Amino acid sequence: MLDLQGVSFEIEGENGTEILNGIDLKLYDKKIYVITGPNGGGKSSLAKIIMGINKPTSGKILLDGQDITDMNITERARLGIGYAFQYPPRFKGLKVKELLEMSASRNSEKVNLYDLLHDVGYS
Ligand SMILES: Nc1ncnc2c1ncn2[C@@H]1O[C@H](COP(=O)(O)OP(=O)(O)OP(=O)(O)O)[C@@H](O)[C@H]1O
Ligand SMILES: [Mg+2]
Repeated sequence: MLDLQGVSFEIEGENGTEILNGIDLKLYDKKIYVITGPNGGGKSSLAKIIMGINKPTSGKILLDGQDITDMNITERARLGIGYAFQYPPRFKGLKVKELLEMSASRNSEKVNLYDLLHDVGYS
């Protein structure tokens, strides 16, 4: 079970704002949960807090009773937590040729450029 206890997330600085305010949430094993809400409501921020991309300003996150609040992304990934970005990441600095080679090496049957680019998030 993933257990969020009073998780808050604030952006510091001049234009600082509270994005998550005291979230208490229990997510049980072998269930699928969907979190819905308006644009800018904090869904992605919550997911990033669970993955460890962002650290909560206050509150705790427990996974099967273990406090993972101070664990980094890699440590959380080892425990089985994953995160799929809303938009596919772009690998800056790679040439189109390199992207195609990366995709082609995994798709020996595909010869269609569109499919190859699609597989690496570029179409
Ligand atoms: N790093 C940041 N710095 C400043 N503001 C941020 C940051 N991250 C998120 N926000 C703000 O926090 C609020 C929640 O954003 P978030 O992306 O979590 O919403 P969302 O529910 O995922 O929205 P959407 O439905 O558009 O994906 C927004 O007002 C956003 O601008
Ligand atoms: Mg989002």
